Amino acid sequence: MRTEHLDSALNCANTLGLVQVVGDNWLEPGPHHDKLERLRQDAALSFHFVGMNIAGEDPLDLSYLKRILSLIHRYQPSRVSDHLSVQVHQGFYFHDLLPFPRTEASLARIIERVDGIQETLGRRILVENLSAYHQFPESDVEECDFLSAMHQATNCGILLDLNNLKINHLNGGTSPTHFIRRIPVHAVEEIHIAGGVQSGRFWIDDHGSYPSIDTINLAKKPMFASTPIFYERDENLIPWHQFYEECLNLNSAILGKVESPLPGRDSQNELHI
Ligand SMILES: [Fe+2]
Repeated sequence: MRTEHLDSALNCANTLGLVQVVGDNWLEPGPHHDKLERLRQDAALSFHFVGMNIAGEDPLDLSYLKRILSLIHRYQPSRVSDHLSVQVHQGFYFHDLLPFPRTEASLARIIERVDGIQETLGRRILVENLSAYHQFPESDVEECDFLSAMHQATNCGILLDLNNLKINHLNGGTSPTHFIRRIPVHAVEEIHIAGGVQSGRFWIDDHGSYPSIDTINLAKKPMFASTPIFYERDENLIPWHQFYEECLNLNSAILGKVESPLPGRDSQNELHI
């Protein structure tokens, strides 16, 4: 849910069920919280963050985590999540989700950090897989195994971004099916789908279009039948009524009630992955 859509969404809040918002947009107090409070009366919330710096090397930012804790106390979200990435290094905020070398040493460090975050927040978090545009030669643990080990050691959940699997497949040849087979599916508590775009030799996870048919097909796997799926749309924003219609169409497409994801749309690069 983008804040641009919030006013319109409030008109049909009781049809939404579960809504994911970027928690970082709500860390500051202010009158804008009135609308989120109203939404919370009719829908459950999932808070998605971009600043826990789960994979970073800087000490955990306890003041940031305490602000998250206040938000949790206020809204009682059903889930709290962030990304398996570096977002801050030596105090510099990149405003991006950066990859890191996946090694046994970084795994031990990140397990300790996830433990620290969960202890500070007093609850478990979900950690999301990344779309990465650079692979470190020293990485010797696959991302799926990395997430599995994190789950085993910390009991954190997994937020599985299916479009990130597709993007990594297009850019680096990794297999989404292999990834899904290797992770503990019972730990997957949320799923993201989104559209991507080609830029030069890379596919970019820009969240700027309707998800492609192969991303939708991944979401149709029976093991995800009861997992909440969020459609991420951050670029090329469309009006709320159109976004809502696309959500309904995605729902039908994933449930197998319609043959094509959205009538009249290009089915975009079917891959059979
Ligand atoms: Fe995502």
